[in-house]
Amino acid sequence: GYTTNRGTTYNAYLILADKITLIDTVKSPFKDELLSRIASVINPVDIDYIISNHAEMDHSGALPAIIEAVKPEKVFASANGVKALREHFHFDYELVAVQDGDTLDIGNLTLKFLETRMLHWPDSMVTYLVEDELLFSQDGFGMHLAHSKRFADETELDLMLYEAKKYYANILLPYSGLVAKLLERIKGLSIKTIAPDHGPIWRKEPETIVRWYRQWAEQQPGRKLVIAYDTMWHSTALMAQAIADGAMESGVDTKVMPLRASDRSAIMTEILDAGAVAIGSPTINNGLFPTIADLLTYMKGLKPRNKVGATFGSYGWSGEASSIIAQELHGMGWELVGEPLRVKFVPDDAAKQKCRDLGRLIATRVSEKCNDAGKASASGD
Ligand code: FEO
Repeated sequence: GYTTNRGTTYNAYLILADKITLIDTVKSPFKDELLSRIASVINPVDIDYIISNHAEMDHSGALPAIIEAVKPEKVFASANGVKALREHFHFDYELVAVQDGDTLDIGNLTLKFLETRMLHWPDSMVTYLVEDELLFSQDGFGMHLAHSKRFADETELDLMLYEAKKYYANILLPYSGLVAKLLERIKGLSIKTIAPDHGPIWRKEPETIVRWYRQWAEQQPGRKLVIAYDTMWHSTALMAQAIADGAMESGVDTKVMPLRASDRSAIMTEILDAGAVAIGSPTINNGLFPTIADLLTYMKGLKPRNKVGATFGSYGWSGEASSIIAQELHGMGWELVGEPLRVKFVPDDAAKQKCRDLGRLIATRVSEKCNDAGKASASGD
């Protein structure tokens, strides 16, 4: 459900300690490339240990082939990881389960394991290289970004901010409470480097992305409205534009995102720091336009919080769509602004005025909500 317009990387890490250790592998089609890159440094059969931080197939798909090629002494994963890897690969290779807080002596260096269950799979864990103060963070602090530069300090900050935000909004958002707890936990670790399984490595100022995560995990409402809609004969589009005009007159940052130009993962990225979301759909066969049903299904799973919602849409005969969306948003625990707005056939001037009024109403409510959140935060609530 997530488009990776800027590509991605599958990062696996080789630690040249006394016990040579490979952290994670890659997606199955890239196993030969991984072996070839390892062979440019050491003979792959010299690898002693493999650590599987995360059983999802983009990091473990190549594991059976790498085990076969390398014949490591041991392969470590969390207890849930051991179970998940067995269930994926149906192999009888003896994996070693590690517990939260366990350490592993790799000769001249030490690895410490921290379980991060549901960040974002039940098996997930991160591995801390104690002497180098380096956190192998698997998916956490990652982004889908293929770039000619390997390190964050060589990569454009705005680009990384957008892609890290997109990653958070589309992968980690439902687990924001757990992210906040993990951030508290790692406050006790001195971290010089964060090495994720996707995207650039933070070898300088890793606190930059930690700060971003802290902000996103809080899910504070921003003074921003996202208007996501689809349209059949352009009438719902006219409504969207009039709502946007009303909100912008009130000084609220407004993103108008037609589904035909914006995919669901781009919309979720904008919703992450928005305080208000308006969703519009024409009515088709007494129901939602399929692209809007798709967006709602995707968004519900990601559980965005602290939003005010509004709904709108044009219709020809029955006009249920805006009410159906309103029910869905209510079910997500969002506060609804105004009644579901519906317009028969094509909005005239009076209908456009109602849309502008709705935009102003949303702007007022989202501004109040932001002020309340600011006061609560200032008072430490
Ligand atoms: Fe990059 Fe959850 O796998």
